[in-house]
Amino acid sequence: MRISLLLPTLLLTVFSSSAQITVAHLLTENLSDPIGIDSRQPRFSWQLAAPDRNVLQTAYEIQVGDGPESGKIWNSGKVQSDQSLYIPYGGPAVASGQKYFWRVRVWDNKGRASGWSKPASWQMGLLTPADWKAQWIRVANEDPSQPSPLFRKTFIAQNGIASATAYITAHGLYEAQINGQRVGDAVLTPGWTSYNKRLQYQAYDVTGLVHPGKNAAGAMLGSGWYRGYVGFEGQHNVYGTELSLLFQLVIRYKNGHTDTVGSDGSWKTATGEVRHSEIYNGETVDARKEQKGWSLADFDDTRWETAQTADLPKDKLIATVNEPVTKHETFHAAKLLTTPRGEKVIDFGQNLTGWVLVKIRGKAGDSIRLSHAEVLDKQGNFYTENLRSAKAQDVFVLKGGGEEIFEPRFTFHGFRYIRIEGVDGAVNPDDFTAVVLYSNMPKTGNFNCSNVLIDQLQHNIQWGQQGNFLDVPTDCPQRDERLGWTGDAQVFSRTAAFNRGVDNFFAKWLKDLAADQVSNGAVPFVIPNVLGDGASASAGWADVATIIPWNMYLAYGDKRILEDQYPSMKAWVEYMRGQSKNDLWNTGFHFGDWLFYRPFDDNDGRSAVTDKYLIAQCFYAHSTQLLINAATVLGKKEDADNYTALLKRIKDAYLQEYMTPDGRLVSGTQTAYVLSLQFDMLPEALRKQAAERLVKNIQDYNYHLTTGFLGTPYLCHVLSRWNQTDVAYRLLLQDSYPSWLYPVKMGATTIWERWDGIKPDSTFQTPGMNSFNHYAYGAIGDWMYRVVAGIDTYEDGPGYHHSRIAPHPGGRLRSASADLETGYGKLSSHWEMKDDTFHLEVVVPANTTATVCLPAVDRGLVTEGGNNLSAVKDIQIEGIEKGYLLVRVGSGTYHFRVSK
Ligand code: BGC
Repeated sequence: MRISLLLPTLLLTVFSSSAQITVAHLLTENLSDPIGIDSRQPRFSWQLAAPDRNVLQTAYEIQVGDGPESGKIWNSGKVQSDQSLYIPYGGPAVASGQKYFWRVRVWDNKGRASGWSKPASWQMGLLTPADWKAQWIRVANEDPSQPSPLFRKTFIAQNGIASATAYITAHGLYEAQINGQRVGDAVLTPGWTSYNKRLQYQAYDVTGLVHPGKNAAGAMLGSGWYRGYVGFEGQHNVYGTELSLLFQLVIRYKNGHTDTVGSDGSWKTATGEVRHSEIYNGETVDARKEQKGWSLADFDDTRWETAQTADLPKDKLIATVNEPVTKHETFHAAKLLTTPRGEKVIDFGQNLTGWVLVKIRGKAGDSIRLSHAEVLDKQGNFYTENLRSAKAQDVFVLKGGGEEIFEPRFTFHGFRYIRIEGVDGAVNPDDFTAVVLYSNMPKTGNFNCSNVLIDQLQHNIQWGQQGNFLDVPTDCPQRDERLGWTGDAQVFSRTAAFNRGVDNFFAKWLKDLAADQVSNGAVPFVIPNVLGDGASASAGWADVATIIPWNMYLAYGDKRILEDQYPSMKAWVEYMRGQSKNDLWNTGFHFGDWLFYRPFDDNDGRSAVTDKYLIAQCFYAHSTQLLINAATVLGKKEDADNYTALLKRIKDAYLQEYMTPDGRLVSGTQTAYVLSLQFDMLPEALRKQAAERLVKNIQDYNYHLTTGFLGTPYLCHVLSRWNQTDVAYRLLLQDSYPSWLYPVKMGATTIWERWDGIKPDSTFQTPGMNSFNHYAYGAIGDWMYRVVAGIDTYEDGPGYHHSRIAPHPGGRLRSASADLETGYGKLSSHWEMKDDTFHLEVVVPANTTATVCLPAVDRGLVTEGGNNLSAVKDIQIEGIEKGYLLVRVGSGTYHFRVSK
């Protein structure tokens, strides 16, 4: 009796000991052990790992406590659920500034339980304005050409420090120090938001910087986006005229006491070595003016002035949602050149965003001037005309007497080359290091294939992203612009979500979008909006309001982005509805298919001009569709129904206005057909022939694309959808202008703004609009991941909860691979053609499933792990679709072979 009762338990123990499940990679609000969270119900995510196949979570239990293993504050109990991402905290109200610990254990579909995970933690931010004991302080100085102010304060800390947290923000940019050490590693803080509506503060764990006894804290400020030059019309003081600091340090002692040191009228102020800084123009640092040791306790500040307090708002303060900008790769000189003009130039070999760190010796008063450029001209001279009015110049003045290190703080540049002036004698290239800056988004994706030019294209896409995801998605990092252009961001957003984790990055920026959206629903051209409310509502730009939330939902499976953005999405659709007559939106200013193919000498009318209102109607439909999608996900049935009815009318109006009864569009361009097909504007029966017209058009241009910003992202997807992947591959592999590989062949290391930034004769396109680091055309990356390597997510299993692995061999590629760190873990698709056999290795993370589409119609030709498909018990055959055999798999690694 006893034995038989024990038997099942024994069997289970034997079974489960052979294959354990573990739970790891704990994130709170998508961040690892974050400090300074606003959300009162932070959400937890984790990943399961198991060596065997087909593992699904069936239940979880979360414990939250005030210590790593206490679990005293909240226990979720065992919850039957397969959800492992974004589970909200459900315990008692959280307290401002408090640190919490949590851990989780899970059960799976094979009856196993994991052990408790290693604990993770999070710390709440300052939740109400009243939690800020510190006061805003400043020096009254409205002249942005004045040196950067320093602020400092000494204070005493008691024995028995348990923790110390600094909460800091500024009007302007800040860099803080405690006892001579830099606080944190973020640069260009507090980042860029619509400052008057939302100002981020950062929270730092500074326990290691504060000690019992006398301490000092301080910060240096720069003009930054707050009052420096932003925008191409020389605007400055966009948000205000004076720099201010808000600094609060909270020290907790082991005995439960706390001390708070806040900026107030007892702080002292002076100026230091940063004499001038501007984002576009660069920074001047004069080492002779350095206040050595200015943030040390025993520094003599008797000659410093007293800071003024300022009654500035605290109700706009928000915790930081996204990863801050930090330093990343460094580059040493690839070459030192003397140009035909006799200038000393260093080539770092990569177009990048950041600055140059200089280590140098010289005499007091020697001044080194570094100018930045992306390209050399045809003659090999340093070329800066395309920076327009941005000076992009750093000046370092030496104090003499040994090696000196210079590095700017409150500027950044887009460059591959620097010109060096002011060095006596020979330039030593080892004295100069390029430091790359971008938002610290986790690297999630990797794509490569057997074609080296495509691999270089992927490299350029990634560097385009890195160069332009600098707290906001900028159009470019070098000229007098660097603004959050909405059109650029929307076309690239899905590609971006493959290369890096951009969920927090866009969640933050979309909140600024909603904040800056005009009251009539119009979405500004740039976010944060520095161009005024009238600069808004361009089709394809403003649709960022619907496109990015939906793309982020697909990539990360997080409904909250839709909940948060829903009012903004709806307001944008309502704006278009308000502008329309009889459901046709054909008014207002639009950028159109920006930078489409337009030959210089257009005698035979080959320019690919697409009617701007045709485009507007397509995006009106698309945004409405995405709003319907969001309403459906969020259970807003009435909205879904109403907008479905509207969408039908929008499409009817489109057909009536822009299509002949035979299915010809008023604009015969690639973009017109691409948008019409991508957004399902045409009746089912006319779609095939529209796709044929598109192919014919591509052939007429001898297999070249002619699309601009708006048509390009969908071009290859539309071709693939209508079984023309071969044509898509021909476009991808095309290397004469206009094409993706033309810039690659011309030596590009980033994506260019224009298809012909450098013309075949090595002269430049017009300097007024010729950036060599503009990611928009990098939107092809999405097709490379989703179609070439074939990694995608189903809309009803977003965030790769149910993935679709559908590789499309072609284009004379021998192999292609993509890996993606999804919320659940690593998803991979690697294929290779070997001796007429197609090999596919697929990795599917635990707690997810995938449908794998194999290029085979006969299941008899397919094996997995060397076995006939029918003999592999964990694989389910789903059917045949467009020449592909569809099989469904659970988590695990699979090796498929398809023989011819
Ligand atoms: C920017 C673009 C932007 C465009 C609007 C340009 O100045 O650099 O990328 O989208 O203006 O058409």
